[in-house]
Amino acid sequence: MTTAPTHAKGLEGVIAGETEICNVEQTSLIYRGYEIADLAANASFEEVAYLLLVGNKPTADELASFKAELVAERSLPGAVVEFLKTSGDLVNNQYAVPMDILRTAVSILSHLDADCQDNAADANLRKSKRLLAQIPTVIGHMQNSIEGKEFIAPNANLSHSANLLYMMTGSEPTPEAEKVMDVSLVLYAEHDYNASTFTARVISGTLGDLHGAVTGAIAALKGKLHGGANEAAMDMLADIRKDIGPDNDLGKVTDWMHKAFAEKRKLMGFGHRVYKNGDHRAPILHGLGRKAAEARGEEFVKLFELGEMVQKIMEDEKKIYPNVDFPCGMTYFTMGIPVPQYTPIFVASRITGWAAHIMEQHANNRLIRPRVAYIGPAPRNWND
Ligand code: SDX
Repeated sequence: MTTAPTHAKGLEGVIAGETEICNVEQTSLIYRGYEIADLAANASFEEVAYLLLVGNKPTADELASFKAELVAERSLPGAVVEFLKTSGDLVNNQYAVPMDILRTAVSILSHLDADCQDNAADANLRKSKRLLAQIPTVIGHMQNSIEGKEFIAPNANLSHSANLLYMMTGSEPTPEAEKVMDVSLVLYAEHDYNASTFTARVISGTLGDLHGAVTGAIAALKGKLHGGANEAAMDMLADIRKDIGPDNDLGKVTDWMHKAFAEKRKLMGFGHRVYKNGDHRAPILHGLGRKAAEARGEEFVKLFELGEMVQKIMEDEKKIYPNVDFPCGMTYFTMGIPVPQYTPIFVASRITGWAAHIMEQHANNRLIRPRVAYIGPAPRNWND
């Protein structure tokens, strides 16, 4: 089917395919027909993961066996454990950041997965479940290594979200912390043709394998214009706090923002290619995070109040709204999660969306190969 070529920088507004998985609109965000607010309020992350990977809401029996499969696949092959033992030095000596470590770990996992070269639907589903189960263990072991601690083994009695937190800290999270993490993973799971998912589709569109497509997607998500914004948003708030001191003085915050505007700085955690009137996910996570801050204490409430000042100035003066990464930064900080693990946790959730898109691409493939407008030198001869 040929249609008139579309030339849009960054493919802005271009419809680049079809999907049954998700739809991102100004007015709604749905995963396979379910509204995000409905899922955030009523579904666990395991249920949403099943919905994205398999295509429908799991029955009680389907959910129970899915959970058991994930628990059984949480441990890592020896070669990955050995690599993760070196990860603390790589990060602490600034040769790598956690997103790089996670990307390499997924690559090593591909060498140890018997299904790696098999793009068949059943093999892809097996690999998707394995990566979904293994990525939290990679994050946990990596964090243990960064802190010079022994690796904390996965806890089979804990939910996916609780186990993720447990492996990073060694203590079982409160039910409240588990709930906040679980909702954040639901909100992060899928978002149609965002840059990292599109990367995964381009790679799987060549018939590249699932691990390779996920590796590329991790590299794309790391960028602070995309998933890296949750870390960058918290770093930005820390910079503001450092500059204005411990009190949230509106005049000082306004001066800071106006200086940033004058320098044409992109404020991390704000704006979106599709959402121009606000990100449906942001208020959900902001509300949960603020409650966690109120329970945690004054310092964390003041962080959220600072964030709310920044948000009001952006909305009033620029008509630019927070995306999900802005409340995520404040929420994960309140939960005591190390900032450099925020985007790896985004991966622990988005692996579900990426895998769903990779399986959809393999199942009904057409090579993704757009055209480009040439603006280089006019034709010329080498021997002129
Ligand atoms: C995610 O695509 C997805 O769905 C991604 C995601 C997902 O779930 O997968 O939602 C997750 O990546 C969210 C986005 C996280 N990134 C950030 O928070 C980084 C900061 N945001 C910006 O870089 C920007 O808003 C983008 C990249 C997110 C979107 O940018 P666009 O669509 O390319 O818009 P633009 O850069 O052309 O901006 C339009 C105008 C510009 O002003 P002018 O130059 O025309 O005068 O708005 C301004 C921009 O300067 N603007 C900002 C701004 N975002 C846009 N100004 C200051 N701070 C910002 N954050």
